[in-house]
Amino acid sequence: MVNHEIKIAFEEYSSFEELNAADQALCREAVKALGGSHSPYSNFSVGAALRLQSGKIIYGSNQENAAYPSGLCAERVALFNWGANYAHDPIEALAVTAYTAKFVINKPITPCGSCLQVLAEYERKQKQPIRTLLYCQDGSTWVTNGVESFLPFLFFEDRLVSVPV
Ligand code: THU
Repeated sequence: MVNHEIKIAFEEYSSFEELNAADQALCREAVKALGGSHSPYSNFSVGAALRLQSGKIIYGSNQENAAYPSGLCAERVALFNWGANYAHDPIEALAVTAYTAKFVINKPITPCGSCLQVLAEYERKQKQPIRTLLYCQDGSTWVTNGVESFLPFLFFEDRLVSVPV
């Protein structure tokens, strides 16, 4: 028997001003994305912004539905838009933030397992890590330079990707 231990590394910025200018700008874009949230059931808005290598910003926000499982998280709304329309332009960074009038969110929200799995797939597809900023407007911001820090046991099987001909 062998015991394994995995360490997860991330940076914590307790003040917004500590972030570099590009990170601050992308966090502000994530706040802008909150405006598109359709969340009448949870009243919990999530905004996501992707910065592509060209400088283009792609927005996503959570989209809920009366048939609850039909809704989708902000991160995947942005990521699937990228995958469908902009995949030639690599994703440099993703910022995510949340807002609710029901309580003060005082720590960053972390993407759900499904969103992390999708992020991981695209990170591999573009062969370049995605800097991820989890921005809390009333707390600190957590930053990683790649999704594997958040999901060390992500599912990936190279042999499923391409079938040799
Ligand atoms: N949600 C996101 O959009 N992203 C996350 O990372 C976590 C949760 C959404 C789903 C749902 O619309 C609302 O937040 C409450 O769970």
